[in-house]
Amino acid sequence: MRHLFIKGTDLSKPTLLLLHGTGGNEKDLLPLARLIDPDASILAVRGTVLENGMPRFFRRLAEGVFDEEDLIVRTYELHRFIDQAAETYSFDRENVIAIGYSNGANIAASLLFHLPKALRGAVLHHPMVPRRGIRLPDLTRTQVFIAAGSNDPICLVDETLELQTLLESAHAETVLYWENQGHRLTQKEAEAAASWYHKYIDN
Ligand code: MLT
Repeated sequence: MRHLFIKGTDLSKPTLLLLHGTGGNEKDLLPLARLIDPDASILAVRGTVLENGMPRFFRRLAEGVFDEEDLIVRTYELHRFIDQAAETYSFDRENVIAIGYSNGANIAASLLFHLPKALRGAVLHHPMVPRRGIRLPDLTRTQVFIAAGSNDPICLVDETLELQTLLESAHAETVLYWENQGHRLTQKEAEAAASWYHKYIDN
């Protein structure tokens, strides 16, 4: 997968896995990662699916309607890529925190839904429920920060709450932060993500 790896100045820190939104690329979330932890290593990945030329992490049939089969294939593809990258760049595979926005948050949530040890934690900006009707793995000790918009037209309030409930039913520890700026990733929620990280991950 097309990606950037930036070695951190403190190798005891987690590796931040950056997953952009639809139409973005691997550089989009670099400022957010630097805000969250300037000393951590970064693995920033570009989605392998193109929708009218716009990179994404999996196909969709319509806005908010996922191609489930493709979602599953791409979730495992990303998982294998992280495993390989951990060997190539010698980072601790068990200390990876995903930071995703929109489509990138959805594939990060899908990693959590399908694989018990894919991530130590995740920062999900404006995520949706990636799949329904499946049994989640045991997510004990997995820390998840969710930032959502009370007026987000894509990720609705009920769906955000459903995602939180599903993750908590699988024993993940979640913190939910509300904004009211639609689907935008705001500076305030970026700062809230940084505070969460220092409280629950880098403490
Ligand atoms: C998705 O397809 O993942 C969601 O609709 C979010 C987005 O617009 O990318």
